[in-house]
Parts: sequence; structure tokens; C-alpha cells
Amino acid sequence: MTTTFYLPTNAAAALLPVQHGALDYAELEALGLDPDAVVDFSSNSNPYAPHPAVVSAVRAAANDRALARYPDRETLHLCRAIAQADGYPPDHVLAVNGAAEAIQIVALTCVAPGSRHLILTPTFGEYARAIRLARGYVYEACATGPDLRHTVEQVYATVCELHPHAVWLCNPNNPTGQFWTTEQLAALRAAAPHALWIIDEAYRHFSPRSALVPNAWLESGMVVLVRSLTKDHGLAGLRLGYILAAPPLIAAMRFMQPPWSVNSLAQAAGIAALQPELAAWLGRSLAELRRHAHALWAGLNTLGLRVLPTATTYALVAAGHGASFRRSLLARGIQVRDAASFGLPAYVRIAARTPEDNLRLLQTISAIGTRGESNHV
Ligand SMILES: Cc1ncc(COP(=O)(O)O)c(C=O)c1O
Repeated sequence: MTTTFYLPTNAAAALLPVQHGALDYAELEALGLDPDAVVDFSSNSNPYAPHPAVVSAVRAAANDRALARYPDRETLHLCRAIAQADGYPPDHVLAVNGAAEAIQIVALTCVAPGSRHLILTPTFGEYARAIRLARGYVYEACATGPDLRHTVEQVYATVCELHPHAVWLCNPNNPTGQFWTTEQLAALRAAAPHALWIIDEAYRHFSPRSALVPNAWLESGMVVLVRSLTKDHGLAGLRLGYILAAPPLIAAMRFMQPPWSVNSLAQAAGIAALQPELAAWLGRSLAELRRHAHALWAGLNTLGLRVLPTATTYALVAAGHGASFRRSLLARGIQVRDAASFGLPAYVRIAARTPEDNLRLLQTISAIGTRGESNHV
């Protein structure tokens, strides 16, 4: 059953920190670990990126004059490159400082105080925080069952019951890797044609299929797409993402964005990453990553760890006690994501990497025991 419950909006709840994967530099310093020596399975990123052409473009852009100048506030060339790559007119695009900024901007623009917002949990923690900061109410439909899957029927029923002003949906979802097809999304939208649907597609290239959102959905003004270049193009340190929506919404969101939010180096990186030659490279590198992910899931199964079904190159893995398992691995220079902040303390999230890294992970787990209990720090 999908259950919906109300979480009160108040400043204290909104200000609770959201947990994320990726390296925690203070923690590494306390453990005496060099960040460069830690293999990071906790952030879902393309381990083959960035492409050398992107690195060259950033180097070329990092000259004295360009660094001293403000970046193009309107991100004109970048928006054109995004529009060309994704097949939308440039006035449907807002470039942002990573998809995380996109979520804040969408909330600032679209969440009215007291409005109802449905999120499908477990999911990325920034939606709830952004909604609460904008004084909206968060309602959660929680996935249950051994595979933590939502069904169209259950979500449809929840939407009909709640009449939300907006539904925030991550496709494919972080952390479960659940993927919604275009047909499933259409069926869900039919339950609330007047609701705003915010679809976060930060990981769209990480699943073999993608949900093609029809142009008419964007033009209706009731669908907003959030996309990221930081994960597939390995630009997490630079930060780059974008929003696709109908022009009036884009204009309103541009108004909410801090000025010069996308720096010159990120703009140069994005323009290079979106060239057609790199689209083919991206497809090849992520297809390879998917092959290695399947091998990694099989290896984890062999070690006695249950890997939940996923459409992506990251997966939830039942680890007994996620925090202890993570600590044991980190002491050995490997980081996975403790899933406790998703409400799943018995799980970790693991993002596949290169075959060499994956082998090291499997060997380390084998050495410490699958529950991470032996010798853990
Ligand atoms: C589902 C989801 N959306 C958005 C983001 C933020 O992406 P970015 O690094 O582009 O800000 C993340 C980062 O982990 C994520 O998992």
C-alpha cells in the first residue's frame, strides 16, 4: 500500500540539514584520509567523465581576462547549445548552477504558502526542504514492499485523494533507481491534469531507456523538467544543470535566480559537453558503465548482499546496518552512501564505477564480511 501522511511545515523542519552522498571533507580530515585516495561509490556520477574536450574548453576559458570578467548573465550560448541538444527552443531553457539550484528556483517560483506538494519517497531530500522553505506542505507517498517500488495505481489513487498543487517526481529515482515510462507518466498526470508536475531527470542518461516528455506537456505550463550535466559529464565540482519549461515559467524562474549564478568555466564546459560528437561518447561510456554495474550487482549477490532492482547504475544494497557498513569501508578508503537519511537504515546506496574500482569494492567487502561488522571502526 502507498501511504500518504502530512508533515507539518515549520522553519525548524525546513532547516534540518539534508544528507547527501559524495565526500565529506571534514570527516575525511578527522579520519586522516586523503580525499584523493578515497574511491567514491557514494555519488552517482560517470566515472569516465569529464571528456578531454570538456577539460580543454575549461582550460581555454580560464584565462586572466575571462576570469576577471563577469560571466554572461543570460547564458546565451549555453542556452542555445542546450536547446539544440535537447530539441527545445532557447526560450524554454534556464541554465542553473547544478540541478540542486534548479530545485530551489522551482520552489521559489511555484510553491505558494500553504499549497500541497506530493513527493514519492524514498527520494532526493532537497525537494522536501525546498518546498518547506517556500512554506508549502509536503505530503509523502512512501514506497513499500521488498523492492521499494511505487505503482501507477497506488500513486494515481494518492493523487486523486490529495489533489496536490504539485507533484515532484524523480525519474529515474534517487535512491531506488525506479524508472517511469512516458505512458506511466501520462497515466499519472491524468489523475491531476491541473497540478504542476516537476520531473527531475538528473539521472536520465543513467538508465537504458528515457521517458520522452511530449512538447505539449511543457507548452501546457504544467510540466517542468530539471536536468543536470554534473553527473553524466563529471562536472560536479563546476556545477551545471538546466530547467526546461514553457517560456512564461522560464521567465518567472529567471527572475528568481541569483545573478551570474552559472560561472564562465561552467558555461564553457557545458557548451563543449553538448557538442554532437560528445553525445555519442556519452552514450558509449554510460552503456559501458551499465555493463559494469550488472557485473557489480552479481558480485554483491555472490557475497550474500541483496541488491534491489534498479534501472540505473546505482542501487540500494541491504547491508544489515548501513552506517556501520559505510564506516568499515571508509576506514579502508572506500565510500558508499548510508541510506539512513532516506529512512532506510539497513541499506547503503552504491554507484557502480570502473571494473578496477568495482573489484576493489568487492574484495574489500569480502575481507570485512558482508555486514561490515568484523573489524569495523
Ligand atoms: C535526484 C537529484 N537531483 C538533483 C541533484 C543535484 O544535482 P547537481 O549536482 O546537478 O546539482 C542530485 C544530486 O545528487 C540528485 O540526486
